[in-house]
Amino acid sequence: MIVICERCQSRFRLDENRIKAGTKSFTARCSRCRHVFTAYRPVRIQEIPFVDLSAAKHVARKGNTIAVSNQKGGVAKTSTCLNLGLALTRLGKRVLLIDFDVQANLSILLGSQETTSFYDVLQKGPQAMAQALVETPYPDMWLLPASKSMVLLNKKYFGADDYEFILNDRLNLVKARFDFILIDTPPSIEFFTLNALTASDHVIIPTQCDYLSTHGVDQILGIIDLIRRKTNPAVEARILVTMYNEEETAARVIQAKLKELYRGRLYQTIVPHDSRLREAQIMSMPVYHYDQQSRSGQAYMDLAREITESVERAG
Ligand SMILES: Nc1ncnc2c1ncn2[C@@H]1O[C@H](COP(=O)(O)OP(=O)(O)O)[C@@H](O)[C@H]1O
Ligand SMILES: [Mg+2]
Repeated sequence: MIVICERCQSRFRLDENRIKAGTKSFTARCSRCRHVFTAYRPVRIQEIPFVDLSAAKHVARKGNTIAVSNQKGGVAKTSTCLNLGLALTRLGKRVLLIDFDVQANLSILLGSQETTSFYDVLQKGPQAMAQALVETPYPDMWLLPASKSMVLLNKKYFGADDYEFILNDRLNLVKARFDFILIDTPPSIEFFTLNALTASDHVIIPTQCDYLSTHGVDQILGIIDLIRRKTNPAVEARILVTMYNEEETAARVIQAKLKELYRGRLYQTIVPHDSRLREAQIMSMPVYHYDQQSRSGQAYMDLAREITESVERAG
């Protein structure tokens, strides 16, 4: 199993036979920074209640589960989930948003007070997944909220056999109810992002046009390649330029560079930098509801059309 130091994040391989049989947690000391912490034995997937994982791997996909992912923080992952989700409902689609980030920013923006999250879903039987989905203030938009206890998922399951399929497996129980499922992911990789990428048909990689952006895009594309070889051969990724300021020379230069480097892998839609979106977030609102004419609200509508058209073409 893999043990991760909770202070310096160093990873160590540990022979599970060295841990006393029957113990779920144990005290570990990091050989790099000497920090002493509680580590958890990964739960075998078969021990999670009532789910036939072998079946989950073969469930037919509808091409509508989309992870929004980039290891870089602050690139508009959460804003894209919320505003694209809302735009899809305006096109008549039923949308489920999954807040798969312990920071729970998406849940906060949607005013969710729920404490039930994917962590609680895994402690109960399969019916718990449908029960954990909450209605949002917006018609046809549902949310699986995040909670602080989700931090334990990484500790409990990361490194267990087939742990990357846990979300995929539970999503299959509710997929038929939705036209689109959008998964918001944290900047780190580990349990959450690997599960989200394994459960998805598409990945949106939001990026700003700044100096380090191509580096972040390269990193996540590398991880998606790994996922394609390991757990999800059909997953596809596209890059979404966000917070674009066409008046900035640097932004124009980097956008041209991104187009050249990732030819054919960029969405045509570009989301402009828009103070209306920030204002909308203060009011905990999708920007389209705050100001229908806003440039970012219109851009997310364009993105929703681009995505639905490409899914319909592929189907
Ligand atoms: N199109 C935009 N125009 C202006 N500000 C934006 C836009 N998109 C996102 N932001 C702001 O950028 C910040 C980071 O966005 P967020 O969605 O939280 O990123 P991430 O989830 O990748 O960390 C937030 O303060 C958000 O309001
Ligand atoms: Mg976020």
